[in-house]
Amino acid sequence: MNFKFAFCPIILLLSASLSFAQNVNVVIHGAASIAKTDDNFVFVTVDWWPAEKCDYNQCPWGKAGILNLDLRYGALINAIKAFNPLRIKVGGSLQDNVVYEVGEVRSCPNFMKREDGLFGFSQGCLSMERWDQLNRFFNHTGVKLTFGLNALFGRNESQTEKCLWIGDWQPQNTRDFMQYTISKGYKVDSYEFGNQLSGSGMGAKVDAKQYGKDVIVLKNLVKELYAHPETEPKVLGPGGFYEEKWFNTFLEVSGQGVVDGLTHHIYNLGPGDDPNMMNKVLDPSYLSQVSQTYKGVSDVVNKFRPQLGAWVSESGGALKGGSKDVSRTFADGFWYLD
Ligand SMILES: *[C@@H]1O[C@H](CO)[C@@H](O)[C@H](O)[C@H]1NC(C)=O
Ligand SMILES: *[C@@H]1O[C@H](CO)[C@@H](O)[C@H](O)[C@H]1NC(C)=O
Repeated sequence: MNFKFAFCPIILLLSASLSFAQNVNVVIHGAASIAKTDDNFVFVTVDWWPAEKCDYNQCPWGKAGILNLDLRYGALINAIKAFNPLRIKVGGSLQDNVVYEVGEVRSCPNFMKREDGLFGFSQGCLSMERWDQLNRFFNHTGVKLTFGLNALFGRNESQTEKCLWIGDWQPQNTRDFMQYTISKGYKVDSYEFGNQLSGSGMGAKVDAKQYGKDVIVLKNLVKELYAHPETEPKVLGPGGFYEEKWFNTFLEVSGQGVVDGLTHHIYNLGPGDDPNMMNKVLDPSYLSQVSQTYKGVSDVVNKFRPQLGAWVSESGGALKGGSKDVSRTFADGFWYLD
């Protein structure tokens, strides 16, 4: 037995180095394209998480959140400029917990840890002072901005079904926020309606029919407030996990020409604390399973034909701040390549 145990790893090492040494012929049929991407296809999310957001015994966010990011940090500015332009989404889990400090909202408190709050935090606040700073930064670095709106405003969690939020979306705070944004001449490429509220949701969900009705309200608001079609921001949704029935129902209710881009999220590596993570990012057959999701989204796009097609508006492979041992390593590059 002892002998075998000592021997096995040697065999494995040997075969691994042999397979690396093999010549492989790769044939690419370049005559016909099978898909097209936008020129600005790289899309980065700047999230709302405060430094106190922790998962799996790590607190990875530090000062990377929208409210405490150092906007004068040279390396960040240069990195963004280099994409020329880079798409940035301001959003993420807490976006449906953010109140805009404008119009009827004279003051609002900042995010605080709260056990019973959505994702463990109380409601947060975007002051117009911070919004001004952010827009100077986006203007200076040439960012194409997608702003993720609070799509839970005015709704309440159902008493009978956990995580389900019911009632109509209340657009007043968004209306005031957009009016302010327009009055300052800030450019918004697109508004995304809510974060991960589709299907079974993540912490919160909204019924597909209700979401479809509310996204019409948002579209009409954008049309009303933005006077010129050429500066009118696009409307994106639902920005959540793909589920066939939910996506079909919401698009049947909203109808065509309301959602310009169909957005969905990809976290196909699952929870970041999976001890098997390294094997997952190195296993082509595991990684290829996600093609089912793309096929589903593609079918929906072919059926409802949103103008901008399908977008992955958020992704990171592993959920909840990533995997401590894998997400920051070279090996994670295989997930990106895939
Ligand atoms: C930045 O703002 C100025 C003044 O409003 C505007 O002329 C310019 O086009 C903006 N640049 C970008 C990249 O949005
Ligand atoms: C949500 O709850 C508040 C406070 O209890 C109530 O005033 C409001 O009418 C409720 N809204 C909906 C849509 O149920």
